[in-house]
Amino acid sequence: MTTQVENRWHFGVPIFEAQLPGLLEKRELLRDRLLALQAEEEGVARSNQRGWHSRDDLHKSSDPLLQWLTEQIYQLGVQLIRHAEGGGTESPVFLSSLWANINDFGAWNAPHAHLPCEWSGCIYVDVEESPSEESNGIHPGDIMFFDPVPVGAPYRKSSTVSYTPRNGTLYLFPGYLMHMVAPHYEEKPRISMAFNFRLGDVLTSVAR
Ligand SMILES: [Fe+2]
Repeated sequence: MTTQVENRWHFGVPIFEAQLPGLLEKRELLRDRLLALQAEEEGVARSNQRGWHSRDDLHKSSDPLLQWLTEQIYQLGVQLIRHAEGGGTESPVFLSSLWANINDFGAWNAPHAHLPCEWSGCIYVDVEESPSEESNGIHPGDIMFFDPVPVGAPYRKSSTVSYTPRNGTLYLFPGYLMHMVAPHYEEKPRISMAFNFRLGDVLTSVAR
């Protein structure tokens, strides 16, 4: 199967966008599974402001749906990472974490990066694709990426770029890239998942 991938360069940084194969068909099942998890577990504090953040080891779940999802993210992620890294290496790639974010009305995610993980990303399970409000090009629930060298004008156009998520979409970006999620103002929760990848070569060759 062929997957259409856009490589959106911003500030000299690759941000890959693709449809995760099969996610649209299974997203309602996945939404229900994640809402059930939220009802069962308290969640943890990370970048989430008022939102629920699951534990980050959902890639180790015995749930067949989460196992299927983990495999889809891994297969696409490895392809994109190998492309970005320029080939010439068979460095092992590990999916090191996977978690869910459920943002109710007013919830948001503060600016953060995913270091020391080399690559990170997110998928959208149940989001408002056409938010009505808009201010300065930013919609409620948008994901916003920050220029790592935020010099702004006159050197660069803008120090941030924002995307309005669509269900079934995956973004993948370097773990150093700062980002945040704008406050969500819908009664229906905004449901997404996020993940980190590690590169075996880095783990064994870079001093820490
Ligand atoms: Fe993040």
